[in-house]
Amino acid sequence: MKKTIVFLGPPGAGKGTQAEKLKKAYGFVHISTGDILREAVSKGTQLGKIAKKYMDEGKLLPDDLIIGIIEEKLKELPDANIILDGFPRTVGQAEALDKLLEKLGRKLDAVILFDISDQEVIRRLSGRRIDPKTGKVYHIEFNPPPKDVDVIQREDDKEEVIKKRLSVYHSQTSPLIEYYKNQNKLFVVDASKSPEDVYKEITSVLKL
Ligand code: AP5
Repeated sequence: MKKTIVFLGPPGAGKGTQAEKLKKAYGFVHISTGDILREAVSKGTQLGKIAKKYMDEGKLLPDDLIIGIIEEKLKELPDANIILDGFPRTVGQAEALDKLLEKLGRKLDAVILFDISDQEVIRRLSGRRIDPKTGKVYHIEFNPPPKDVDVIQREDDKEEVIKKRLSVYHSQTSPLIEYYKNQNKLFVVDASKSPEDVYKEITSVLKL
C-alpha cells in the first residue's frame, strides 16, 4: 500500500523544508495546503480571494473548504506516496481525513510532530525569504539567498501575524497531538536541530 504521512507542527517548524527533501530523495508527492492556497491567491481565483483574507490575518480557512481541496488532490493521486504538510490542522479536519483515507483504500502510516519553541519559530519566520520565481525558500541568517536572486517576504511572516498564527496553532492544531497519540501514529522529532539532522531523524522514524 502507498504511504501517507502527515507533517504536524507550528508554523516555521521546517515542515516544507523537510517535505521537499523527501520529495527529492524518495519521490514523495508533497501536498502543502499553504502552497495550494498561495498559488490560488497569486492566480486571483475565487478560492484565492477567499483565502487571502484568512491568511493575511493568520487565521485558518473553514474546514469544509480545505477538506474539499484535499479530497480532490488525493483522488488525483491514487498511486503516490504522499506527505500532507499543513493538513490536518483541526480535529474536524483530522476526522475527515480518517474517513477520506478509508474511502480511498489508504491508511495513515505516521504523523511526524515537529517539536520546536515559539521563540525559535519567530526567529525562523521573520528571517524567511522566498524566491517568487522558483518558490525556493531561504533564510537570511541560516540559508541566505544568492546575491542575484530577488527574494520576497510572505505577508504572513510579519511579526504580528506570526504571533497570531502561533496562537491559532496552540488553540486549534495542538489538540491533534493527543488525537494521533491515541491512534499510536505520533512520532516526535526535534525540529530545532539543523535541517540535515532533522532529516536524519525523519528518515529513521519512517524507516527509509
Ligand atoms: P502554511 O503555508 O501551511 O504555513 P505554516 O504551517 O504556518 O507553515 P510554514 O510554511 O510557515 O512553515 P514550515 O513549517 O513549512 O517551515 P519552512 O520549511 O518554510 O499555511 C499558511 C496559511 O494558510 C495558514 O495560516 C492558513 O491561513 C492557511 N491554511 C493552510 N493550511 C490550512 C488548513 N489545513 N486549514 C485551514 N487553513 C489553512 O521553514 C521556515 C524557515 O526556517 C525557512 O526560512 C527555512 O529556510 C528555515 N529552516 C527550516 N528548517 C530549518 C532548520 N532545521 N534550521 C534552521 N532554519 C530552518
